[in-house]
Amino acid sequence: MQRNRYDRFSVTLHWLMAVLLLGQIALGMWMLGLPKDASGLRASWFNVHKSWGMVLGLLIALRLAWALWRPRVAALPQPRPMQLLATGAHRLLYLLMLLMPLSGFVGSVFSGYPIRFFGLRLPQLAERWDGAKELASGVHQWSAWALVLLIALHVLAFVHHQVIRKEPLLQRMR
Ligand code: HEM
Ligand code: HEM
Repeated sequence: MQRNRYDRFSVTLHWLMAVLLLGQIALGMWMLGLPKDASGLRASWFNVHKSWGMVLGLLIALRLAWALWRPRVAALPQPRPMQLLATGAHRLLYLLMLLMPLSGFVGSVFSGYPIRFFGLRLPQLAERWDGAKELASGVHQWSAWALVLLIALHVLAFVHHQVIRKEPLLQRMR
């Protein structure tokens, strides 16, 4: 049977990850401006970003598995093209949420620097490889911008439904 609202677990993950993702994006952009000096400040914020990034990677894997496994949520009553657009945008959000931690991790593996998970040094998986690091960093950077754009569209779509069309959208994700 189809439900017309999201279950508790999906709702909790949606809002928890919304906060963590926005914080992680802001941190990623801010830390790039830190000076490359001997204070170690830049490296320690990079480690904070990598640690939370890996937590987010685990959370998205869990969220994706749950989204595929849980009972289906009925679509909003709206024209088919709008419905397809919403489904497409949600799938793209999932894809970008997956690509972000993966590209960040792969780039860091090939950077030659050790990866620490909240202070715990992880085993070194590969030697430094500049080409692979640059490719993964490029994916990380472009996916970040695509994610920011899509989140903005997502919030605009939410405002359109909730405020302009006065549909009880928030009740579905609460
Ligand atoms: C203030 C910010 C946000 C608001 C108000 C919001 C609101 C919502 C609402 C109301 C829904 C349910 C749509 C429906 O009824 O079908 C939804 C779904 C969704 N949201 Fe957000 N959201 C926000 C931020 C985010 C962020 C940061 C992300 C992550 C990139 C995100 C990813 C998703 C995804 C993937 C779905 C689809 C869930 C599914 O069908 O599996 N949202 N959002
Ligand atoms: C959902 C998870 C993540 C988000 C949203 C995120 C977001 C960002 C953003 C917005 C930036 C700055 C833009 C740029 O790349 O130029 C950045 C940079 C960076 N991120 Fe992430 N990140 C995530 C996960 C990770 C993970 C898991 C790692 C490594 C284990 C990582 C490592 C890095 C590094 C090293 C940089 C500096 C630029 C570079 O060398 O590519 N990130 N991240």
